Amino acid sequence: MSRVAYVNGLYVPHADAAVHVEDRGYQFADGVYEVCEVRGGRMVDERRHMERLQRSLRELRIAMPMPPAALGVVLREAIRRNRVREGIVYIQVTRGVARRDHYFPSPDTLPSIVVTARATDQAKAAASVESGAAVITVPDNRWDRVDIKTVGLLPNVLAKQAAKEAGAREAWFVRDGVVTEGGSTNAWIVTQAGAIVTRPAESGILRGITRTVLFEVANRLGLTVEERGFTLDEALAAREAFISSASNVVVPIVSIDGKTVGDGKPGPVARSLRDSFYDVAEFARK
Ligand code: PDD
Repeated sequence: MSRVAYVNGLYVPHADAAVHVEDRGYQFADGVYEVCEVRGGRMVDERRHMERLQRSLRELRIAMPMPPAALGVVLREAIRRNRVREGIVYIQVTRGVARRDHYFPSPDTLPSIVVTARATDQAKAAASVESGAAVITVPDNRWDRVDIKTVGLLPNVLAKQAAKEAGAREAWFVRDGVVTEGGSTNAWIVTQAGAIVTRPAESGILRGITRTVLFEVANRLGLTVEERGFTLDEALAAREAFISSASNVVVPIVSIDGKTVGDGKPGPVARSLRDSFYDVAEFARK
């Protein structure tokens, strides 16, 4: 089946989809993105992802490339044309194409928008939930606006590649001894007392949509959530650990830097949060 991408107003064969060499996303990472899960052909938490996209754009003073309702149509069309049932839809908006110059281009420069959609490997995802995954830790050397979902992901790329080369799934960034988040996920532990702990999202991390929904899931399940930083030592002494993101929902973490977490198996809290996730997440209309 041939894939299709949406690029600046046109649906084009994925293999030919391109932006200009002087796109500011390409030259300066001057742009933002969103990844939204697709389940049963419907977007999960579209509303929250669109709100966060608009916030990221506002923070960088990039205009929304089209009204939100029109973007909703494009997202659905990309999902439909690529026949995605279980997968992700990716949206990227940059400050547009202009002669390379650090200053913002003239105000009449149109933002660039790209939308792609693809299926994800469900069997692989299920396997990692069953077995649990490993993380390594790396120093958090990112800028202090990681609350904005920018395409400037070089520290994340290097961290995740280091994880892969160490046989791990994810890298946890650590700043001043405290775990901030993963290269593309939020980080959580479950203490020996049974409290779920994750770092506050006011600064220092991306406020994950999955994270926000999981607070509500935990609440419904009667579980205690403590929104505070946790140290690496605390994580190593935890009963459970897990990561969250739109593309993987909840994945249990069974080792950190080669040291076993809890009994080295996926724990019941991570499992129950995952199992109840779609009871709380919002499914968009098709
Ligand atoms: N990653 N932290 C970072 C640094 C992320 O890149 C992501 C998302 C998250 C989780 O956010 P959410 O629950 O809204 O997906 C946390 C996406 C999936 C990605 O880059 O592919």
